[in-house]
Amino acid sequence: MPDTEYVIVGREDTVAVLTLNRPEALNALSPAMLAALCDALESLDADEAVRAIIIDGGQRAFAAGADIQAMAQSTPMDIVRTGTLSYWQRIRRVNKPLIAAVSGYAYGGGCELAMLCDLIVASETARFAQPEIKLGIMPGAGGTQRLARAIGFYRAMEMILTGEPISARQAYEAGLVNRVVPPERYLDEALELARLIASRPPVAVRLAREALRYGYESTLRDGLEIERRNFTLLFDTQDQKEGMRAFLEKRSPDFSGR
Ligand code: CAA
Repeated sequence: MPDTEYVIVGREDTVAVLTLNRPEALNALSPAMLAALCDALESLDADEAVRAIIIDGGQRAFAAGADIQAMAQSTPMDIVRTGTLSYWQRIRRVNKPLIAAVSGYAYGGGCELAMLCDLIVASETARFAQPEIKLGIMPGAGGTQRLARAIGFYRAMEMILTGEPISARQAYEAGLVNRVVPPERYLDEALELARLIASRPPVAVRLAREALRYGYESTLRDGLEIERRNFTLLFDTQDQKEGMRAFLEKRSPDFSGR
């Protein structure tokens, strides 16, 4: 998978690391940048050897939001015609575990991109905000819904109506991030987490993730239905047989991914 101007693709065995690369604009998510990100994610999603994907933005900013320069003169028809909002749907459809490694600003679409991931590892320098209100707009890439589900209605309402940021520590206490670590550790911490998930049987990871994400976006009843279906399906995998046999034989499992 080749690097592009906006996204650098690295590989560490079964873990892929995508680095957003537009530092001069704090990784503002222009349509070209989002297209490059979606293309890279879809290509890694199709690669069976990849078991987890990290999205990183470097030390200064994860991403400072959608590109304001590109949006400033937009009409509603421009947004419909160019389909810029559909990039977020493409990211949502990725099937591999996604881990956001957040250092510095995760603002607007940057915060929404982190929330499209399954886990968020934050540097102590991370700041999360939905500042769209200050521009006369509102979040448009899932922020009103995902933030409220992640940190609760009242805290989300405050962030979205004031546009003010919260610190990494506040985000951790509110349940928005999994871990907060010193700046020099955030990517290594994300890599460790990714490697651990990558070592688990991939079909079980995929179906468990699907049940969680589906339930997050729907009713308890529908989520329970998917859980029941996916749980049952896993009894058709070699890894279920191997995992349970290994436990009973008191040895480490050797998962084949089948
Ligand atoms: N779009 C375009 N360019 C951006 C940008 C953005 N979202 N964020 C930062 N930049 C650019 C700046 O214009 C600046 O460029 P120049 O050097 O050419 O002037 C460069 O990045 C560095 O930014 P600052 O000088 O502003 O850096 P700072 O450290 O003083 O401030 C910041 C950092 C507080 C994040 C500030 O840049 C900022 O407020 N950015 C905008 C954040 C924002 O409003 N995001 C929401 C966008 S709308 C959205 O995301 C909609 C959606 O839901 C999909």
